[in-house]
Amino acid sequence: MTQRVAIIGAGPSGLAQLRAFQSAQSKGADIPELVCFEKQSDWGGQWNYTWRTGLDENGEPVPSSMYRYLWSNGPKEALEFADYSFDEHFGKPIASYPPREVLWDYIKGRVEKADVRKYIRFNSPVRHIEYNKADDNFTVSVHDHNNDTVYEEVFDFVVVASGHFSTPFVPEYPGFESFGGRILHAHDFRDALEFKDKDILVVGSSYSAEDIGSQCYKYGARSITSCYRSAPMGYKWPANWEEKPAMTHVEGNTVFFSDGSSKQVDAIILCTGYLHSFPFLPEELRLKTNNRLWPLGLYKGVVWEENTKLFYLGMQDQWYSFNMFDAQAWYTRDVIMGRIPLPSKAEMEAHSAQWRENELKLETDKENYEFQGAYIQDLIDDTDYPSFDIPAVNETFLIWKKHKKQDIMTFRDYSFPSVMTGTPSPAHHTPWLYALDDSLEAYLNDEPKPEEIKRAAGE
Ligand SMILES: Cc1cc2nc3c(=O)[nH]c(=O)nc-3n(C[C@H](O)[C@H](O)[C@H](O)COP(=O)(O)OP(=O)(O)OC[C@H]3O[C@@H](n4cnc5c(N)ncnc54)[C@H](O)[C@@H]3O)c2cc1C
Ligand SMILES: NC(=O)c1ccc[n+]([C@@H]2O[C@H](COP(=O)([O-])OP(=O)(O)OC[C@H]3O[C@@H](n4cnc5c(N)ncnc54)[C@H](OP(=O)(O)O)[C@@H]3O)[C@@H](O)[C@H]2O)c1
Repeated sequence: MTQRVAIIGAGPSGLAQLRAFQSAQSKGADIPELVCFEKQSDWGGQWNYTWRTGLDENGEPVPSSMYRYLWSNGPKEALEFADYSFDEHFGKPIASYPPREVLWDYIKGRVEKADVRKYIRFNSPVRHIEYNKADDNFTVSVHDHNNDTVYEEVFDFVVVASGHFSTPFVPEYPGFESFGGRILHAHDFRDALEFKDKDILVVGSSYSAEDIGSQCYKYGARSITSCYRSAPMGYKWPANWEEKPAMTHVEGNTVFFSDGSSKQVDAIILCTGYLHSFPFLPEELRLKTNNRLWPLGLYKGVVWEENTKLFYLGMQDQWYSFNMFDAQAWYTRDVIMGRIPLPSKAEMEAHSAQWRENELKLETDKENYEFQGAYIQDLIDDTDYPSFDIPAVNETFLIWKKHKKQDIMTFRDYSFPSVMTGTPSPAHHTPWLYALDDSLEAYLNDEPKPEEIKRAAGE
């Protein structure tokens, strides 16, 4: 009998899983029956932007945390698919830090070519998954919002690709309840123009804090204050951006910091990260981890050691993204198709423990992305995913980091050659700081917009 595989989520990870199976099929293999459940009405996961916050039209929590004017925060050369290059998709070289819409287009291009949309059921949040011990399979319960029905189907394998940057971690500080302005989490940030001429505080010291602060600077906030819990971001900030240590409390509109200083602000944006959240999974199948490079319980970062018919994609903290999801999806496919035998549970646990031990020794950023690169290489070595030059991607990360240190407002103006095709990327026609139009059309245009030229000239 044909085996059935349920894939939860049609973001980059779930789509990588569909493409992995389709790739095997195109080489003549018999593949299992695939059903991908996606709670949104379209594919792309985080990259499928919505203006909505809170609940969507079906009353489901909005998964995407992306906002208007978001550009890639790392060079596209670090995330390029090894089986579908930017050259192939755009038909010409494009610059290295595309806005969201451009990357969404790229993600879609590959899966449209692979013709896998037919496997996806949209508006279909998975409500519950139960493992049936007697039959060694899973009952998956799904809400079909198109018909407002809840139904169950049985699958032999489940791949959880539901992402982990959708459920905000929202801490509380004394005085929040009587703050006179707006307090929001990065998950609900949509448009920096809301904060034009305002004094804002961003809480946190990772990518959201850095980028949301930069967005607000670019679109005209009066001042930006950022505060950190563990370590400062430490970039050379513009004159109206100040970095402070931890917030202690708030009185009215005044925020107090652990060095005794204070600041009046109009809004507090909590860039305090996300929770791995799987409300549809029972306790024995549920991954519990913080955002890190080596979550425990997953052999090779994907196989649920407690039940090897369950897989998780994309659950690690991400230096690498799209091509890491691919490596994981190809590996998962080959386990499901019986091409890769799994060792005993004890051996899987020992293997994971060794990777965790190595993860705990990592100190520098360089060691961190090299660790993730080595992990991806390890997966690729076991499958037919096209091998690519991971040391060259690591080198790209190294230079990217240097550019950020030089100037956090100009790092996106540099370009890199493709690791996949060798094609050099052109410089973008407009420096990021002056490029206000982030549409696909404006980005792919070879000419800058007249108003952006004026802005760059300070007029
Ligand atoms: C603000 C922000 C900016 C980012 N910028 C970049 C960047 O510049 N470059 C980069 O490489 N990465 C970036 N990322 C990382 C991003 O997470 C990955 O690029 C990628 O989107 C992860 O893919 P995924 O498929 O694992 O998860 P997601 O993209 O989150 O997709 C998960 C999908 O699962 C669906 N889903 C969830 N629960 C259910 C359910 N119960 N039933 C059915 N469907 C469900 C969701 O609707 C969603 O479509 C960013 C992340 C955030 C939050
Ligand atoms: N394309 C883009 O430009 C862009 C923009 C935004 C986000 N992203 C992506 O989105 C993903 C998530 O990034 P993220 O920055 O939201 O999450 P993150 O990387 O997990 O960082 C969470 C941050 O919250 C801080 N924090 C947690 N609890 C706190 C508390 N109680 N008080 C103060 N600070 C607290 C953490 O500080 P500690 O260090 O002290 O733990 C850390 O700095 C990443 O993959 C990133 O690349 C991309």
